[in-house]
Amino acid sequence: MKRIGVLTGGGDAAGMNAAIRAAVRTIWHHKAEAVGINRGWQGLAEADARSLGSGSVSGILHQGGTILRTFRYPEFATDEGTVAVGKALKKLRLDGLVVIGGDGSFRGADKLLRTFGLPVVGVPATIDNDIPGTDRSIGYDTALNIAVDAVDKIKDTASSHGRIFVIEVMGRDYGLLAAHVAMATGAEEALVPEIPYDLNEVCRRIEAGYAEGKYHALIIVAEGAGKASYITFEINNRLNRPVRMVVLGHIQRGGAPSAFDRILATRMAHHATELLLGGTHGVMVGIVANKFKTSPLVKKTGVKLADVRQSWELSQLLG
Ligand code: F6P
Repeated sequence: MKRIGVLTGGGDAAGMNAAIRAAVRTIWHHKAEAVGINRGWQGLAEADARSLGSGSVSGILHQGGTILRTFRYPEFATDEGTVAVGKALKKLRLDGLVVIGGDGSFRGADKLLRTFGLPVVGVPATIDNDIPGTDRSIGYDTALNIAVDAVDKIKDTASSHGRIFVIEVMGRDYGLLAAHVAMATGAEEALVPEIPYDLNEVCRRIEAGYAEGKYHALIIVAEGAGKASYITFEINNRLNRPVRMVVLGHIQRGGAPSAFDRILATRMAHHATELLLGGTHGVMVGIVANKFKTSPLVKKTGVKLADVRQSWELSQLLG
């Protein structure tokens, strides 16, 4: 009987459990054994794994986080880490591995294939939506909805007090999440790393808004565009108005996945596992324009394709 591993890596993203469930059920459907790797790459290096029966993934579809847990493991880039993983793979006797995570996890998966010849497939899961080869990564939609819900609440307070709120959202080096949050909440400003901004201009527009009768200003800042604390300080120095800041932080990563993320995770993980068991590997599965698409795990051109995709979507959004 074939033994197929399932691993979640990088930051947790809502919908990872739905992806685990779909992968495990697909593995058993093909009469192979599903092996859950605990604690991501670190667990793999320590051969920390457990057999996952089909029933072991019951009741997790709607749960946030990852039942397999995850761990950032930069040591895998070192020789020691690589040797440890090699030894663990021998012990675990895996015939293939489904890797659910972001670009760092896909680099790890690619290394497993190149160094040890282990067949791997990738399922994109990160709230940053920064993986080229898919329109959406698992967790993005949930993070967006959580942030929108939070900003709606903050807006009530902003309007009641006539305040300016600077609200920082995650997204690592990218601004799509912030731009979508701003658009969905009707925020006055969206500051994203892809588009240079001038705080004097931002303040001028905010003042103009107040002059026209607005009674609040919401500024959504992508974490990659600057720290909310700095921006709040600078606005405070320029405007004679009450300014507050909120860093949404990890609240955006947890919680029950949206229906969209559950469905996305189920479709992509099922398809990726089918490919792996059918003999296709070394790829990640994405969905582009509602059609499955496979792409290399690691892009070799040196061009940051995520920049291209996000810039394109941003240009559509922000004009
Ligand atoms: O990649 C997901 C993400 O949440 C980013 O948006 C953020 O920059 C980073 O992870 C935070 O990482 P950590 O949870 O390790 O602090």
